[in-house]
Amino acid sequence: MKSDASENAGLDPSKLPAHVAVIMDGNGRWAKKRMLNRVKGHERGADTVRLVVRTSREIGIRYLTLYAFSTENWQRPEAEISALMTLLKRFLASEKQEMVENNIRLNTIGETDRLPADVRKALAQSKEATGANDGMCLTLALSYGGRAEIARAAREIAEAVKEGRMDPQEVTPQRLAEYMYTAQVPDPELLIRTSGEFRVSNFLLWQIAYTEIFVTPTLWPEFTRDEYIEILRDFGKRERRFGRIMS
Ligand code: FPP
Repeated sequence: MKSDASENAGLDPSKLPAHVAVIMDGNGRWAKKRMLNRVKGHERGADTVRLVVRTSREIGIRYLTLYAFSTENWQRPEAEISALMTLLKRFLASEKQEMVENNIRLNTIGETDRLPADVRKALAQSKEATGANDGMCLTLALSYGGRAEIARAAREIAEAVKEGRMDPQEVTPQRLAEYMYTAQVPDPELLIRTSGEFRVSNFLLWQIAYTEIFVTPTLWPEFTRDEYIEILRDFGKRERRFGRIMS
């Protein structure tokens, strides 16, 4: 079913990225352009989340990671944070059944213990309901920051060394990767950022060392299935060298 779907979209399944990460930016600008409240932009953004999750699963993407709430987002006005949390809860409630039926496993990265109790509960329920699924892993980055993630890994390693469970010589990139939230997830091969900003914004700093980056000017609420497929097609044409020379 998966390869059929990617062939239908005119994509070569062998050239698809296994892991796509997305910085979903531009909800606020979308709303401002229409003289609407920023929350309206996030509401439309949540619809795009549904579309991209569905399309990714249909095409055969194995891992999809979405930057839904950064550590910096806690500095936004209280009302906007609360609206984002409500949207997240609504998304989890409305998509739970679909995730179960479509063999999607829900995963999170970030300081999720900082989230409100009702959101944590909804996350726990969705994770529990989808835990055995292996069709696609949907990771929501929530209260996530790349530097905080690296600091957390360093802290855990320091503890291990202090307690004599690890030798400093063992601290290699491979071992460090095991201390990241993403220990069980391969590095993303493609990072998409909407709304035209050429920034990484503290997202997956460790994991994107060799990731292909695609920036589109489209605002997240206006991002379409067709544009997503075009980006995947473009990815298939890029030559990935990982610092080597290809003959
Ligand atoms: C950026 O828009 C987006 C966010 C801060 C978070 C992304 C949230 C959603 C897509 C909605 C809900 C999420 C889920 C998972 C249901 P921005 O406000 O930074 O836009 P701007 O840069 O134009 O102001």
